[in-house]
Parts: sequence; C-alpha cells; structure tokens
Amino acid sequence: MSSKETRKLVPTAPARRTCAVAILALSASLVVMEYLVPSSAAAADTLGGHAKQGQAIFRQRCAACHNKQPGDTSPFGPPNLNGIFRGTSPLTAKEAARIIEDGKPPMPAFGSVLSRSDIDDLIAYLKSR
Ligand code: HEC
Repeated sequence: MSSKETRKLVPTAPARRTCAVAILALSASLVVMEYLVPSSAAAADTLGGHAKQGQAIFRQRCAACHNKQPGDTSPFGPPNLNGIFRGTSPLTAKEAARIIEDGKPPMPAFGSVLSRSDIDDLIAYLKSR
C-alpha cells in the first residue's frame, strides 16, 4: 500500500475537527431545546417519553369525557380510567387498544385518527395513572 492510499483512509485533522464541532453544536442545541419546551404540568416531569406523549394525546382527545379523578366511583358519565390496568378486574393493554381503536358506544372509535404508536403512548400514560 502506498503512503498516498493510507492517507486517504485516515480522516484528516480538519475533517475530524469539523465533526467534533458538529456533535458539540448538536448536543448544545438539544440541551437548549430541553429547556425551551414548556412542560404543561409539574406531574408530567415524572413521566417517561411515551407516557408524556400519551398524556398530551389524552388531554386533546379523551379528557373531555374521561375527566374523573382517582377514587371517583360515581356511576354517572364515562368510566374512570384511573387504575384500569390494576385492581380486581383489570383491563389488558390489548383490550384497551381494541376499545380505543374500535370505540365502545357511546365512545367514538379512534382507529382512523390515532396511529398504533399514539395508542401505545396512550396506554403507557394510562398505566402511569
Ligand atoms: C365522547 C366521550 C368519550 C371520548 C372522547 C372518549 N371516551 Fe373512552 N369511553 C367513553 C364511554 C361512555 C365509555 C364506556 C363505554 C361502555 O362501556 O359502554 C368509554 C370507555 C373507555 C374505555 C374502557 C373502560 C373500561 O373500564 O372498560 C377505555 C379504555 C377508554 N374509554 C379510553 C379512551 C381513550 C384512551 C380515549 C381518547 C383517545 C377515549 N376513551 C375517548 C366515552 C368517551
């Protein structure tokens, strides 16, 4: 192998420096974004990524009907979704996904407006409550 070929394989110093600068700039902007994105509730800060996404979707699409607080056992109105995956007759994630997708009259179906990953996020959020 000639020395010319060897040189081609090893990144030149300026190229390496550019790369390092790019990585630094990228991580700096990620840190800045972390601070700029407002968190809507203090409680949301403790949620993981999926649950946090799910919370946003829940507030937009579900909370108008499913607004019962934990412990509310009132028989009126849409069911309380707090703790639906726990207790004596818990729902499975699969059952919940089917209900969200297909609806359960009078609850509308969300299969055409929510993606599979939106529904997974919602379930992650409901599991956190
Ligand atoms: C228009 C009001 C309405 C909206 C909006 C709504 N739901 Fe419902 N949901 C209901 C009602 C009413 C029921 C009970 C249906 C039944 O069992 O007869 C229900 C049932 C459910 C159940 C089953 C609960 C159980 O214990 O069996 C789940 C899970 C659920 N909804 C999740 C959601 C999610 C997630 C969203 C948002 C994507 C949502 N719902 C949006 C009204 C609504």
